[in-house]
Amino acid sequence: MKKTLLIGMVTAALVCAFALPSLYAVDAPSDMVLKVPAGAKSTKSPVNFSHKGHAAIDCAKCHHTWDGKAAIKKCDSEGCHIDVSKEGKKKPTSFYSAFHAKKDNSCVGCHKAMKKAKKNTGPTKCGDCHPKK
Ligand code: HEC
Ligand code: HEC
Ligand code: HEC
Repeated sequence: MKKTLLIGMVTAALVCAFALPSLYAVDAPSDMVLKVPAGAKSTKSPVNFSHKGHAAIDCAKCHHTWDGKAAIKKCDSEGCHIDVSKEGKKKPTSFYSAFHAKKDNSCVGCHKAMKKAKKNTGPTKCGDCHPKK
């Protein structure tokens, strides 16, 4: 019984993987835990992020410098959201702004705009993304 269930699940997973050809040649990773760049001080707990939960959104919305072909860069890549200083927080080049800016491609920006438009969306409160350590 258990074995047939397992085979059934594996088959279903394979069918899903092949029946849904992705738009791009790059696959999105499974669930991730987002953290501060290496060496930076962290004041908030790491954040869970699921690509599956955001499958309805175009990859290039979040990966906004991506050309659809090359390897996808991390948010804190050179020349991108690298400023981890307190003074730089509001700048578009800050690490913070990548996730909280009032833009529809940041986590908080998108969730807040959608909430305002009364659409089903993700969390907007600090503690819902950064649970108490
Ligand atoms: C809602 C926003 C969002 C969407 C939509 C999205 N991603 Fe991501 N993705 C992220 C975030 C945030 C990271 C973590 C980046 C980091 O570690 O700096 C990430 C990381 C990745 C990485 C790993 C990069 C690395 O070097 O660690 C790949 C590959 C990737 N995404 C592919 C995709 C693909 C393909 C799609 C579309 C099918 C997609 N993503 C859609 C937000 C998104
Ligand atoms: C362009 C809009 C958009 C962006 C950008 C975005 N989200 Fe979301 N998020 C959504 C929507 C829409 C949902 C609701 C999906 C559903 O329930 O069908 C959601 C749901 C969620 C959820 C709850 C469901 C789940 O997947 O666990 C979490 C947590 C979440 N988002 C975290 C994040 C984080 C962290 C980021 C930034 C790295 C981010 N989101 C960026 C639109 C967005
Ligand atoms: C939709 C999810 C989401 C919400 C809501 C959210 N954040 Fe974040 N926050 C992130 C992500 C993703 C990162 C980058 C990963 C990390 O550093 O943990 C981040 C990073 C940070 C950082 C820099 C890293 C650190 O640990 O010091 C600070 C500060 C921060 N958030 C504060 C806040 C505050 C304050 C609020 C409420 C006003 C808030 N966040 C709401 C997702 C969110």
